Amino acid sequence: MINTTNKVSLRQYNTFGIDATAKELIICNTIESIQEALSYLNNNPQPYLVLGGGSNILFRNDFDGIVIHPCLTEIELIKEDEKNVWLEAGAGVEWDELVKYSVDHNWYGLENLSYIPGNVGASPVQNIGAYGVEAKDTIVSVKGFYIADASRFELSNEECCFSYRQSIFKSKLRNKTVISSVIFKLNKTESYTLNYGHVKEELEKRGKLSLNNVRQTIIDIRKSKLPEPEELGNAGSFFKNPVIDLEHFKKLQSNYESIPNYPVESKHVKVPAGWLIEQSGWKGKAIGDAAVHNKQALVLVNKGNASGQDIIDLAQQIINDVCEKFGITIEPEVNII
Ligand code: EPU
Repeated sequence: MINTTNKVSLRQYNTFGIDATAKELIICNTIESIQEALSYLNNNPQPYLVLGGGSNILFRNDFDGIVIHPCLTEIELIKEDEKNVWLEAGAGVEWDELVKYSVDHNWYGLENLSYIPGNVGASPVQNIGAYGVEAKDTIVSVKGFYIADASRFELSNEECCFSYRQSIFKSKLRNKTVISSVIFKLNKTESYTLNYGHVKEELEKRGKLSLNNVRQTIIDIRKSKLPEPEELGNAGSFFKNPVIDLEHFKKLQSNYESIPNYPVESKHVKVPAGWLIEQSGWKGKAIGDAAVHNKQALVLVNKGNASGQDIIDLAQQIINDVCEKFGITIEPEVNII
């Protein structure tokens, strides 16, 4: 039996802490309950939203429809050979719980993605990434349901069409699926990715190279820059890092020698939106309770009672100013509902 709640506040279901309500909330703890929720929805057609950990979403208004919250919370070892393990994790497993579990078992691959808020089910949707690693590097396949007919699917890594903060679940299949679990392939043998930013330096300060030390280093770096959602509502990076033409980049570089950049391919360069926002004078600034985080300008925060619209208004002013100064239009990476 599915459990539905009417006119419910979503404040505890989004890390921005926006007090929007949903007409109906259905929490699905089992595969069967997802199926039931979908047939209920299909028999009562209306707007719907599949909500995971709520760590990449901003509610502009109340949601006048059904919110389906998949909550499968098992992690299962489904296959193993000499070199690798295959784990199937339920969509409702907290992402960092999965990372901790793999590090505790000495399995390599997820450690750089430590301490990212949100649930496993959202990890393939926007192909979460940090410190030189993306979810796509370890995802083997994604299982779930098509909403239209409640039929099941399993999509391979290739079929998910992953790229930077992007996948088929944000493009062709946007709002068309419920993800129930994700299968990851991890290494049993030592392999690290330490070439991003100051990771190596910070790790050396900590002592010997080990899986747990990499995890703790990443956690420390994140804690020093990114606000804890429990203390200050936020959804991590609010904007994507823009990719610009090499020519445009060269022009900017002649005016701003120290402009940081990540290589993409020969004709394009990715520029950190955090830097562009800081240079535009927005770091640490606020309009009412909607603010730009003072340690990482890429993150917008709710200092208390900001509405979704307050955050959007702030974001728009930032977009305008960055565009005026640098000729670059930055885009939100959070999902605005
Ligand atoms: N920078 C500034 N000012 C700022 C923030 C950044 O000048 O306020 C500069 C830094 O000096 C640095 C560069 O921008 O040279 C990059 O900064 P950082 O390493 O903090 O990474 P980012 O590009 O700002 C991306 C991801 C983060 C992820 C980090 C680490 C996106 C949109 N964001 O941020 O992801 O943790 O790299 O890999 O790609 C998230 O998606 O929610 C998220 C936090």
